[in-house]
Amino acid sequence: MPAALQASPMQLRAPDTGFPKGWYAVAEAAEVTGDTMLPVRYLSEDLIVYRTADGAAQVSGAFCPHLGAHLASHDGAIADGKITCPFHKWQFDGATGRCVHIPYTDVLVPASVKLDLYPTREVDGMVLMWYHPAGAEPDHEPYTRAGETGVPWTYYTTHEWISTCPYRDLFENLFDTAHVQQLHNSVNLPVIEAIEPRPHGLQCRFVPPRGEQYQITRFENNFTGVSMVTAITEGPGFGFLQCVTATPIDNETFRQVSRYYVRDMGSEEANAAMGKPFADNTAYETEKDFRVLNFKKHLTKPRLCAGDGPIMKWRQYQDSYYV
Ligand code: FES
Ligand SMILES: [Fe+2]
Repeated sequence: MPAALQASPMQLRAPDTGFPKGWYAVAEAAEVTGDTMLPVRYLSEDLIVYRTADGAAQVSGAFCPHLGAHLASHDGAIADGKITCPFHKWQFDGATGRCVHIPYTDVLVPASVKLDLYPTREVDGMVLMWYHPAGAEPDHEPYTRAGETGVPWTYYTTHEWISTCPYRDLFENLFDTAHVQQLHNSVNLPVIEAIEPRPHGLQCRFVPPRGEQYQITRFENNFTGVSMVTAITEGPGFGFLQCVTATPIDNETFRQVSRYYVRDMGSEEANAAMGKPFADNTAYETEKDFRVLNFKKHLTKPRLCAGDGPIMKWRQYQDSYYV
């Protein structure tokens, strides 16, 4: 039996340029409750996600500045936004990261001894943390569908993948119009109408394709930096929204989460009748992408031909997020 294909180490397939600055999804908002710390590992960091005393989602480095205990290990606890380390029971204010109590001394540590907080936003049901390789503050805000007018979006389902695709080649796929026809067997070659800068990053609008199952009038991708895209497809009386986040776990892998929404059709059955084929088809095609992407190499000088999409235009935009 032939050996199964395995992804080779990333150092053989992509230049190590570090993680790009940006907003990264680290949890779904509903997973983050007031009475527990959610331990996660992203961007080669151990992190905790929790809620402060006033209910805001917050991301912090997981290790206690005293002697390095993982704050969510053993009986590490949070109550009223105050985190108690399991090791020597130092207490930290989750909102400021400051140490507010040490049970065995009255001499508090200096204010600089604190939790490693990351700027955090709760947007469209996700918890996003800001990452910058040099620790700089956010220079843009994430896209939110709250700006969309009309019937509310109704959540249908979520799919997720762990991928070994070179991180910078994931969203490039959305500008690779030729593969849509050749890999995904789409009848139409997508035609990009406009690629425009937006406060959140980039908006890419497509000429509404004809001859599809549904009559489409709007088809656009809204990128937040290079770590998240909200794709909207609309037609008379219907709409689909897919919110895709890609968060590096480490240099080798990232997690992609795709959340599927439909325009509310008035009943659960009607929403499912729209949502199921949309989510199933999109997930099926995403898996097809990964069957190629997970093993590919990032070519810094690809040999593109006349019919290829604006891949280099995307790369130019993308480069500005690699600090
Ligand atoms: S390591 Fe956290 S209190 Fe000592
Ligand atoms: Fe694709």
